[in-house]
This record gives sequence, C-alpha cells and structure tokens, in this order.
Amino acid sequence: MQVAWVGIMQTKPQLNIRNVTKSFRNKDGEVRVLDDLSFTINESDFVSIIGPSGCGKTTIFNIIAGLLEPDGGTIQFRGQEVDSLRGRVGYMMQKDLLFPWRTVLGNVMLGLETRGMDMEKAQTRARLYLQEFGLSGFENAYPKMLSGGMRQRVALIRTLIMDPDILLLDEPFSALDYQTRLYLEGVLKDAVETYKKTVILVTHDIDEAVALSKRVVVLSGRPSRVKQVHSIDIGARSPVAARSDSRFSGYFHTLCAELDIQTEANT
Ligand SMILES: Nc1ncnc2c1ncn2[C@@H]1O[C@H](COP(=O)(O)OP(=O)(O)O)[C@@H](O)[C@H]1O
Ligand SMILES: [Mg+2]
Repeated sequence: MQVAWVGIMQTKPQLNIRNVTKSFRNKDGEVRVLDDLSFTINESDFVSIIGPSGCGKTTIFNIIAGLLEPDGGTIQFRGQEVDSLRGRVGYMMQKDLLFPWRTVLGNVMLGLETRGMDMEKAQTRARLYLQEFGLSGFENAYPKMLSGGMRQRVALIRTLIMDPDILLLDEPFSALDYQTRLYLEGVLKDAVETYKKTVILVTHDIDEAVALSKRVVVLSGRPSRVKQVHSIDIGARSPVAARSDSRFSGYFHTLCAELDIQTEANT
C-alpha cells in the first residue's frame, strides 16, 4: 500500500507546458522559435532538455520564469493555469554572473535581502548554506578571487537559498573544465536530493544529461518541438558512477542519434 502511494507521489505532474508557441521579430522578419511545445515535469523530477544550439531552450526557460510572454499555449502549475512561475522558480541563467562588488556572503544573501528578510537571519542562513557547500572561510572573498567552480557553487547557493519549487539551470557548468564539471554535477545531485527540488537542466552535454537525469527531453531544431522524451533508468549514486553503468552508453548513443550526431555505434 505504502509503496504504491510513494509511486503515485513521485509521478505527480508539477508543471505542464502545453502547446507553447513563440516567435521573434528580427531584421529578416518573423522567426518561429517554439512550435507547439508540450512537456510535463513531475514533482521531484530531474529533467534535462537537450537540442541544437539556437532551438529555443533559453526561450522556454524565460517563458517559464515569466521574463517573456508566449504567443500561445498554457502553463499549469500543480493543475492550475498560471501566467508563469515567477516567484516559484530559481533561475540560474546561462550568463549568471555574481556581482563583483559584493562578497560571497553578499551575493548569497542578495535574494533574501530583496525579500525583506531580517539581515541577521539572512546571514545565518547564508553561512549555513556556504558551510554545506564547502565554502566556509570564503564569506568575505570577492568573486574574482574564486575559481570558476567555486563561483558556480555560489551561484547555485544563491538560487537554492530562496527555496524555490523548481530550479531552472541553463547550461550551468558549460564554461568549466571536465573535472570541475564532474565534481559540480555531484554537488548538484546531492543538493537537489537534500533540498528535495525539482530540476530542469538545459545542457549541450549529452553525457551530463544521461548521468544526472530521470528523464531527457530532446528538442528538434527551430521551430522547436519535442522530438522524444527518454526515461533514464540508471539511478546511480553519483554522476560518476552513472557513467560506468552498463546502460549508460546505450542512452548516450540513442540521444546522439536523435540529435544527428554521428558516433561509431550509430553510423
Ligand atoms: N529577444 C530576442 N529577440 C530576437 N530573437 C531572439 C531573442 N531571444 C532569442 N532569439 C532567437 O531565438 C532563437 C532561440 O534562442 P535561444 O532560446 O537562446 O536558443 P538556445 O538557448 O536553444 O540556444 C535564436 O535564433 C535566437 O537568436
Ligand atoms: Mg541558451
């Protein structure tokens, strides 16, 4: 009985994107970017979105976050139609820069301050998060004094500390070297399990998508539609362990083939 209930809880839809369309006007006229885009995100899901460059991945995030209005379609949150998820999502943008004139602590506290939280309370909370993410001792450092991986950890804390329902992460690790990326994938996986967050991750890194996700949404080229949704049945303890799972390369090659990337296994 209990097992069945847990099963139902895990697959409860949290976010429903239905038939979303969006065009932009440029010098050559109107360009349709999103064409009838639909997908569902479940409670505690970890979904990666992959697709060709320029297909509209950031655009769909901007729509979900309420920074852009769609031309058509609907967004439902827990069964209710909403204009956007403004205030419910933590959005780590592709070029999410820390404020260089603020210390690490100042950057992490920024959202809590804006929300009007008592400064002392905000500081205590920020210090706890920094400790949890191995950044104790760097509270008073400025972003330029940190490595790329540390800066991304601070950006991730800044997003998580606001306790959003859903994290939108737009290529958060793309500028990092492979070793740092592997490490941060592990940090991210642990954090979303600890804080029980739903994650939607945009990545151009197919093995990152397979190693981290419960499901992968593959988008077509512009105008973008959902080409396929894959369930990733690996469930490894860590993203590094996922890469040595016997099913890993099967998923990897399937996704490459869908994105028209030639590998020996699919030529
Ligand atoms: N504000 C905008 N005005 C005009 N064109 C835009 C705007 N934002 C994005 N685009 C265009 O929409 C397409 C999709 O962009 P984007 O969502 O950033 O793609 P992706 O994140 O998948 O690389 C691109 O061709 C881009 O040039
Ligand atoms: Mg983008």
